[in-house]
Amino acid sequence: MDKKVSRIAVLTSGGDSPGMNAAIRAVVRTGNYYGLEVFGIMRGYQGLLEDDIMRMDNRSVANIIQRGGTILKTARCKEFMTKEGRQKAYDNLKGRGINGLVIIGGDGSFRGAVDFTSEFDIPCIGIAGTIDKDIQGTDFTIGFDTAVNTAVEAIDKIRDTADAHDRLFIIEVMGRDAGYIALHSGIATGAENILVPEQKTDFEGIIASLQEKERRRKLVNLIIVAEGEESGGANEVAATIKKRLPNIETRVAILGHIQRGGSPSCLDRLIASRMGYHAVECLIEGRHNVFVGIQNNKMNYIPLDRVGKKKGTINDEWMKIVKILAS
Ligand code: F6P
Repeated sequence: MDKKVSRIAVLTSGGDSPGMNAAIRAVVRTGNYYGLEVFGIMRGYQGLLEDDIMRMDNRSVANIIQRGGTILKTARCKEFMTKEGRQKAYDNLKGRGINGLVIIGGDGSFRGAVDFTSEFDIPCIGIAGTIDKDIQGTDFTIGFDTAVNTAVEAIDKIRDTADAHDRLFIIEVMGRDAGYIALHSGIATGAENILVPEQKTDFEGIIASLQEKERRRKLVNLIIVAEGEESGGANEVAATIKKRLPNIETRVAILGHIQRGGSPSCLDRLIASRMGYHAVECLIEGRHNVFVGIQNNKMNYIPLDRVGKKKGTINDEWMKIVKILAS
């Protein structure tokens, strides 16, 4: 097999995240700079199976660095998880002479790429695009910084009204398997409690601290709940608290998908640009089937088949800090 890449394609897959457009732009412009032909695949693996692929030049990515969402659109594609689906994908790439692929997405998207590269000779490079920041081997994922700042802005506003009415607010942020958005936004907004999927929810502790705060008339309390919290999210947490403390006035706010949209922050544009550039360099230099992360401000390349969900970094010390600072 000729390992030299000459035609590459880029796709975005899984949940979108602010900064994906900046990464697409970096891949396209770096590829063109090095004289490669660059293609964009619409709707992730779905578009790849349907041969929904177009040529991209530098102009086609003009004026997108500041835009949320993804101009290539995205999807979660079940068919790519099958051997037949991946065969179709390979045939479409081969048909166009594409011999390198950049995948911007989360760990699910990379699992698909691992199967694909074990079966076919098209090198793939992964870039972490997810607001959840739950991928090993990188300190940053594209979209997290923007999402967490969106959450902070919203929670600050909720605190104003919570303060005016002396209310307890239970605020749900995104994070099905990971509590980073909850942890970061909770600490940054002075939340009294932060509940994350990585830790067991200590209802006894929450009730005791609310009672203690009531005794000293500290009635404004914010509890930030990641959607993947073990009891099921903000509504469930509120119901449990209400049962035990019926006199406390409680409101629930679910921030939802506003966290996924919006103009990417400077940090997200920067890391997306850097990762996109290095992804193309990897393809050119023959560093194939790797994930491009950034660790301690250096590029970190790990084999795609070793990339998984980041686990266990939300520890008791973080929770101790939350308690001390919110007392
Ligand atoms: O992309 C990650 C994420 O935003 C999770 O935090 C959330 O659970 C999930 O996607 C929501 O996905 P969907 O938009 O498909 O409902």
